[in-house]
Amino acid sequence: MSDLESTENPITPEAVGTAEDAALAAIAGAADGAELKQVRAAHLGESSPLATLNAQMRAVPKDRKKEAGQLIGGARGRVNQAYAAREAEIAAAEEAARLEAERVDVTAAAKRERPGARHPLTMLRDRVSEIFVGMGWEIADGPELESEWFNFDSLNFDADHPARAMQDTFFVEPVDRHLIMRTHTSPVQMRSLLERGVPLYVLAPGRTYRTDELDATHTPVFMQFEGIAIDRHLSMAHLRGTLEHFARAMFGPEARIRLRNNYFPFTEPSAEMDIWHPLAKGGPRWIEWGGCGMVHPNVLKAAGVDPEEYRGFAFGMGIERTLMFRNELTDMHDIVEGDVRFSEQFGMVI
Ligand code: DAH
Repeated sequence: MSDLESTENPITPEAVGTAEDAALAAIAGAADGAELKQVRAAHLGESSPLATLNAQMRAVPKDRKKEAGQLIGGARGRVNQAYAAREAEIAAAEEAARLEAERVDVTAAAKRERPGARHPLTMLRDRVSEIFVGMGWEIADGPELESEWFNFDSLNFDADHPARAMQDTFFVEPVDRHLIMRTHTSPVQMRSLLERGVPLYVLAPGRTYRTDELDATHTPVFMQFEGIAIDRHLSMAHLRGTLEHFARAMFGPEARIRLRNNYFPFTEPSAEMDIWHPLAKGGPRWIEWGGCGMVHPNVLKAAGVDPEEYRGFAFGMGIERTLMFRNELTDMHDIVEGDVRFSEQFGMVI
């Protein structure tokens, strides 16, 4: 028995060996980072058996200190190495597991989203609005459930004027409240005059209603845009110039318009506006686009505007109709039925 193994010297090869074996076994048995952390505290920390043995170096006789130091130092070195190796192993395994869990199959077919499409009528309405905003006009709005006064009376329709019968109106009950679904966007002329005053340059796109059956060219709910310009020196020439600019912005620099004499109660003189359609299916021809004219003095008077001082022009067109001849559409059903494939043909997917 060497001195090193004597009872005064606690740092025996057995004691060190037992502590080392226990530490190595615990390190090898640690399954993950958390367990390894516990092993570190138990076998490498300050209160571990190896540290406790090391602390007893004081009790080792001087001439045995070197040997005891090598013994315990060697054991601690191997334990530290084993610990570092296991730590790296576990980190690599955990990283691999994380990458596996986050694996993306780049060859998988993408899920096809159908985000929908803006309706061609909406696009056309916005395009028209932009053209007028570009000329400095304002965009106005009015209610679709409208009073008879705004829709007819204020626009110079007599109580029993035949023009009133021209419009096939949805009357809303109780009828003595004189509410209707507006038959045109023209009541916004009067609303704008009253709300905004003069001078006035306003475009009012919106929905309108008439008691038509839905067929290839009619729909009971449709859209129009109304224009009204009132200023001190406006003439028929301004009406013509404005509509010509509008037509070219919509249909290209080749577009031409023509005005034909017509009758509307709220304009005098009144005209029907045609547009030249060089690419029409049946060959180039004039197509009826909308109504227009110089705002009737009675309309201005009803709005409290002096017709001696101010005058102007107005016009109104159908948006569905514009879309139909602009895009060679023949069936109103396609426009109103809301099939997204119809909108997509216009390249209007968003
Ligand atoms: N409101 C008329 C309609 O629906 C269209 C119209 C004609 C509007 C002449 C106007 C206009 O502003 O001046 O048939």
